[in-house]
Amino acid sequence: SKSSSWTAAVPSSVKGLLGSCVVIPCSYNYPEPQKSPQTFTGIWYNNDNQVICHSDASQTPAQFQSRTKLLGDLNKKNCSLMIDKLTRRDEGTFHFRIIMEAYAVFSYSKNKISVSVIDEPNPTDFSVQEEVKEGQTVSASCSVFHSCPTYSPSFHWSHSGEQHDQTQKLQNGQWNATSTLTFRSNRSDHNKPLQCSVTYHGGKQRVTSKTLKVKCNEIGTLLNKRQTYTMSNVSRHSIESMYCTAVNEEGRIRSSTVKLNVLCEYKMEEI
Ligand SMILES: *[C@@H]1O[C@H](CO)[C@@H](O)[C@H](O)[C@H]1NC(C)=O
Ligand SMILES: *[C@@H]1O[C@H](CO)[C@@H](O)[C@H](O)[C@H]1NC(C)=O
Ligand SMILES: *[C@@H]1O[C@H](CO)[C@@H](O)[C@H](O)[C@H]1NC(C)=O
Repeated sequence: SKSSSWTAAVPSSVKGLLGSCVVIPCSYNYPEPQKSPQTFTGIWYNNDNQVICHSDASQTPAQFQSRTKLLGDLNKKNCSLMIDKLTRRDEGTFHFRIIMEAYAVFSYSKNKISVSVIDEPNPTDFSVQEEVKEGQTVSASCSVFHSCPTYSPSFHWSHSGEQHDQTQKLQNGQWNATSTLTFRSNRSDHNKPLQCSVTYHGGKQRVTSKTLKVKCNEIGTLLNKRQTYTMSNVSRHSIESMYCTAVNEEGRIRSSTVKLNVLCEYKMEEI
């Protein structure tokens, strides 16, 4: 077909986390011969033209053998590569080469990918409604960009609840991993930090937290705080009953009425 040419689609650069893995999404194309090739051999090279990954793993140099892997199915024009246990020395550019038996050998050296290594994970994006009413459902989510979908980051929350994790492929060798936690808040969550910790393949960990404010629904909770009101100079006729009112941002509530029974003390005057 006319869309087929010698091209490979790779991002121009990807960032990988030191000690973790990086996946280079790759697909390659070639002008379709009359007779479809049957046997494919794929090789990735670094900028020193050294083999870092061979589809016949026994031909991958020893120092890369346990760290690199062709994830893609070469028969389906997929040349995706994983480099694990990233080190600083992996920084550089790479390109792919295909050998199709009885047809052609081609190096996609115009479609180079540059890999850089970052020491620290990308910042965690943490979102939660920080102020909730007691009993309301809290939905918190924590998400990170990463480039190691083979071993996605794992999430751990400091609060129990229903947890859903998902990974989404973005452009340019980036993935977005998101964890969502939902739970019903109660007053014991008030002023407590809600923590999300993210553990990356390779062991690096990031903890982020936000403090929840749980507003009381019932005013009754406030009445735990005792309030005392002292009246002086009561007389039998000045007041008969009284009540108190508690007020917070959610509303007001009135106590029951207390009847005052004012007893008088008579003094007998001596006659
Ligand atoms: C190529 O293979 C990788 C690894 O199996 C996969 O995640 C990706 O979706 C494939 N790409 C395409 C275009 O099929
Ligand atoms: C990742 O994806 C989730 C769900 O689609 C989205 O809500 C979140 O904003 C994304 N995070 C980043 C850092 O892009
Ligand atoms: C509040 O929620 C926590 C965690 O879900 C639970 O362990 C605790 O028993 C609850 N407390 C009250 C007063 O309901």
